[in-house]
Amino acid sequence: MGEEIFVSPKKKGKVAVFISGRGSNFRALHDAILAGKINAEIALVFSNKKEAPGLKIAQERNLETLFLNSKDYPSLEEFEKEIIKELKKRDVDLICLAGYMKILSSSFCNEFNNCIMNIHPALLPAFPGLHVQKKALEWGVKYSGATVHFVTADVDMGPIIIQAVVPVHQDDTEETLSDRILKEEHKIYAEAVRLFFEGKLEIRGRRVFIR
Ligand code: GRF
Repeated sequence: MGEEIFVSPKKKGKVAVFISGRGSNFRALHDAILAGKINAEIALVFSNKKEAPGLKIAQERNLETLFLNSKDYPSLEEFEKEIIKELKKRDVDLICLAGYMKILSSSFCNEFNNCIMNIHPALLPAFPGLHVQKKALEWGVKYSGATVHFVTADVDMGPIIIQAVVPVHQDDTEETLSDRILKEEHKIYAEAVRLFFEGKLEIRGRRVFIR
């Protein structure tokens, strides 16, 4: 069987950003859209946390927001069904996970195959999971960074779109390293979404090519 090839669509896209907290990556994406750097609009900012500061920012920016509490649903499946309904209603083309702290089911990932991105504050496949800046520091790596990747059911392991490298300094704390990485996150996430809607991302197996 030949390798399946996916090419991202060239169009003015509709993006849903999923957050659970601060929302600085969401803000960076929105800023890039407002600056005309990305051919897209944010159709929805979704949060599974009512108090997520990013939700408030989205409201202040007059973006459509939605909060759903997974505890109000009998199962993850029912919770995600509701989210999918809201996404389909708005013809969402791309979901950007931006500090969304709930793992998506494999059926959700399959429903939006090749159309979910995530930003991770380490150089995957090193340091998947949580508290990765601290883990990188403790491990003693000399470089860390950020990764934008497509989301598959295998958490933090989907095809890598862009990475940015930052040095780890001897006097770094978790905070200083996180700040250095975050600045890069904001740049590469916007860049990845720009390329997506310029029809320039091609996925072949595990590899993402920029056309
Ligand atoms: C970022 O470090 C991102 O890489 C990780 O969660 C954090 C979210 O930060 N997935 P913010 O909410 O975008 O400010």
